[in-house]
Amino acid sequence: MEILKNEAANLIKKSKYTMAFTGAGISVESGIPPFRGEHGLWNKYDPQVLDLVYFLNNPEHCWNYIREIFYDFFADAKPNDAHRVLAQMESNKLLNAVVTQNIDNLHYEAGSETVYEFHGNSKKLKCLKCGKIYDAGDIDFENIPPKCVNDGEVLKPDFIFFGEGIPPDAYADSFAAAEKAKVCIIVGSTGEVTPASYVPRTAKQAGATIIEINPEETIFTSSITDIYLKGKATEVLNQLGELLF
Ligand code: APR
Repeated sequence: MEILKNEAANLIKKSKYTMAFTGAGISVESGIPPFRGEHGLWNKYDPQVLDLVYFLNNPEHCWNYIREIFYDFFADAKPNDAHRVLAQMESNKLLNAVVTQNIDNLHYEAGSETVYEFHGNSKKLKCLKCGKIYDAGDIDFENIPPKCVNDGEVLKPDFIFFGEGIPPDAYADSFAAAEKAKVCIIVGSTGEVTPASYVPRTAKQAGATIIEINPEETIFTSSITDIYLKGKATEVLNQLGELLF
C-alpha cells in the first residue's frame, strides 16, 4: 500500500490538472451517515421523501423527514481532515477542482474554493413559486413545512430531489473538469448514482489516471480505478498529504 500511495502522490505532483470526485463517504467521519451500506440512511428512511412529485403532493410528511435527515443530522457537522487535505491541495496548486455529490457544504467550510455541487446544497432553500432563496439558518424548522414570506408557497431545499435535473452550471463545470483531468481522485462514493458517476468515468475516457479512496471496493474499483487506496478518507488523505506537503 505504501508503494501505491507514493505512486499516487507522484502522479498528483506531476499532474497538469487534478480533480477530486467526492461522495457521502468523505463526510462519514464528520458524523453524517452515508446513504448506502450497513449504516446507510436509505436503510432507515424511505427515499420517496426526496421524490419531487411525492414531495409536492405531501410537503408536510416529507419535510418532517427532510428536517431530521438533512437539518438535524447535518446541523453541527464540521469538515474533517479529508476535506481539509483537499482544500490544502487546492491552495498548494495540487488540485484544480472538487466535484461533489454531497450537499453538506463541508468542502466550502474546509476552505476549498473551486467546488462543483452536482446535487446542490442543503444550506439554501428556494420558493418554487417566486424563486426567492433563503438561508437554512434563517428558517424556523419548528414550523413545518417552511413557507415563503412572499406568497406562502412551500419552500424546497436547494438540493436536487430524485426526478429533478442536475443544476446546469454544476453539470457543465463538472464534465469540463473531467475532460481536462490528468488525475481524478474518487473519495467515498459507491458510484451507483447517475449521472454523477459518469463524471469520473468521463475523466477515465479522456485519459485520466483514477485514484480511488474507499474502505470498500465499489463498481468503480473493478472498472475504472487505476490505484485503489483502501481505507478511510481521513487516514488515506492525511497520509497522501504527508507525501505532498
Ligand atoms: N471514508 C471513505 N469512504 C467511506 C467511508 C470513509 N470513512 N465510510 C464509508 N465510505 C464509502 C462507502 O464504502 C460507500 O462506497 O462511502 C460510500 C458511500 O456511498 P453512498 O452512500 O452511496 O454515497 P454516494 O456514492 O455519494 O451516493 C450518491 O446517492 O442518494 C444519493 O444524492 C445522494 O449524493 C448521493 C448519491
